[in-house]
Amino acid sequence: MCGIIGYIGKRKPEEVLLNGLKKLEYRGYDSAGMALFNKDIQMIKSVGKISNLEDKLNKTDLIDSNIGIAHTRWATHGKPTEVNAHPHRIGKITLVHNGIIENASELKKELEKEGVKFNTTTDTEVVAALINYYYEKNMVDAIEKAISRIKGSYALAIICDDDKDKLYAVRCESPLILGVGDKEFFVTSDIGAILDYTKKYVLLGENEIVTLTRKDFKIEKNHKKVKRKVNISNLTSEDTSLNGYDHYMMKEIQEEPILVNNIIKKYLDNLELLPDLSKYKHIHIVGCGSAYYAGLVGKYLLEEDGIKVEMDVASEYRYRNIVYEDNTLVILISQSGETADTIAAMRKANSNNVDTLAIVNVLGSTIQRECTYSILTEAGKEIAVATTKAFVQQVLILSLLSYKINKDTKYLKDLKKLPKKLKVILDQTGYYKKLADSIYKKKDIFFIGRRVDYAISMEGSLKLKEISYIHSEAYQAGELKHGTISLINPGTVVFAVVTDKETRDKTISNLEEVISRGAIPIYVGTVDVSYDNKVIIPEIHPKLQPILTVASLQMIAYYVALKKGCDIDKPKNLAKSVTVE
Ligand code: BG6
Repeated sequence: MCGIIGYIGKRKPEEVLLNGLKKLEYRGYDSAGMALFNKDIQMIKSVGKISNLEDKLNKTDLIDSNIGIAHTRWATHGKPTEVNAHPHRIGKITLVHNGIIENASELKKELEKEGVKFNTTTDTEVVAALINYYYEKNMVDAIEKAISRIKGSYALAIICDDDKDKLYAVRCESPLILGVGDKEFFVTSDIGAILDYTKKYVLLGENEIVTLTRKDFKIEKNHKKVKRKVNISNLTSEDTSLNGYDHYMMKEIQEEPILVNNIIKKYLDNLELLPDLSKYKHIHIVGCGSAYYAGLVGKYLLEEDGIKVEMDVASEYRYRNIVYEDNTLVILISQSGETADTIAAMRKANSNNVDTLAIVNVLGSTIQRECTYSILTEAGKEIAVATTKAFVQQVLILSLLSYKINKDTKYLKDLKKLPKKLKVILDQTGYYKKLADSIYKKKDIFFIGRRVDYAISMEGSLKLKEISYIHSEAYQAGELKHGTISLINPGTVVFAVVTDKETRDKTISNLEEVISRGAIPIYVGTVDVSYDNKVIIPEIHPKLQPILTVASLQMIAYYVALKKGCDIDKPKNLAKSVTVE
């Protein structure tokens, strides 16, 4: 996944583009580049973070222009080098791209037979060559012909040497938004990149080609004009600032009590706003990364309500030969609403005429738009690549859906106490720092738990892996002794998550099994114990307990990564949501 931005208007494009790239950096940060256009094209590229590109821009004599495109990369085809960095240019065509061209090598061979010379190993350069190949006088026509030949996903911002006052863009699967300003226009992967300039945006449909001039914009598909509504974003650039925190991750964790309270206020007396899952016999829950683990918590909660639930990661679900039974609901969980595998799983369900429910954080995202129903997690903009507040909101929504099936009054009482108890968890900073100091040098760390505690162990382990690069695995507590326990050595750290009453003693015995092999236990539970390292979690209704538990594991992961000096908001090799397969 990458971030792209394009600008045409009265300002110096390099300022708008650089500012936008900084806001898009969570989408990929192994190389970046920009092209400015006046009579000629001026391209500036760099490897690594946006700050490297900024240094280069400051040292470069930039042409005077009003049109530009830029890109921050998460490499899929070709190493993160300056040559492979975007923009790419062939003939009269210069462009930036987010997505994957699946038939790039075929098209490349064809074009090479036509004498086209390529400079890079990227799939994107093939798109520039293809448009250039079809281009005579009409750019929209050339783009139409090119996209009819391409297989895969793309969001493209395109400049043509012959059009001194135009910028083009088109998307298929990958997100792309058109920003509408006062005599200036933007295209970008994410509205957050242009909020400093405008809140007015247009959501583009698949393969709708946009032509932007300084005065206006035109949208066409199959050479027919398309009318699209201009929306107003309720996000502020405040949402994208650090607000005094050192990292977005900590800022976003600290927002959890307020965000949880907002959801409680919204649904407490308006449960009718939530779909009634009891009318479904079968529920499939699908997601990627942390969204999958939130779904796993949902599975344990809904099974307690007597609902048959199956879980799968989207990248497997999309290729499984699933037999859809009548009365099935497929729940798609995604912070961004743009993760390619989850989109494919959703479209599989839609094409089998089963109901789909999106639990997403981004209004207007592909998954939100294409599902039968959708619930927004209202976590606000989440910028840190490792999700925290969106995960908490996903679990809260799932627990409310479960409560709606079997309403028990204790849940409601405890729900009102949740924001305060969450605050108590987040205030134990000193203790998390101490714990982090004792484990940050470890090479391997294990997590164990049963049922909901197992799901939260998976998320706790993922958080630690994502941002501290410590090798960490989570296991069903009862499963460890069937093999993996051979990896336990004196000094190996094992977190035991123990909040589930019914299986508490079982998990404690499993913890004792590893202690007897020299492991260092870290107990995360609701009942006080005599272990040296322990995080005592305030007790609350079982459907809400995972929210308190995961918050403590998010904090521990943060302080371990901080102690190791890791780039907490932009861990290596990761991206906020992966819009490619
Ligand atoms: C990964 C992110 O790329 O995608 C994870 O690094 C996230 O934090 C996962 O959980 C799924 O993303 P989404 O947007 O579909 O929830």
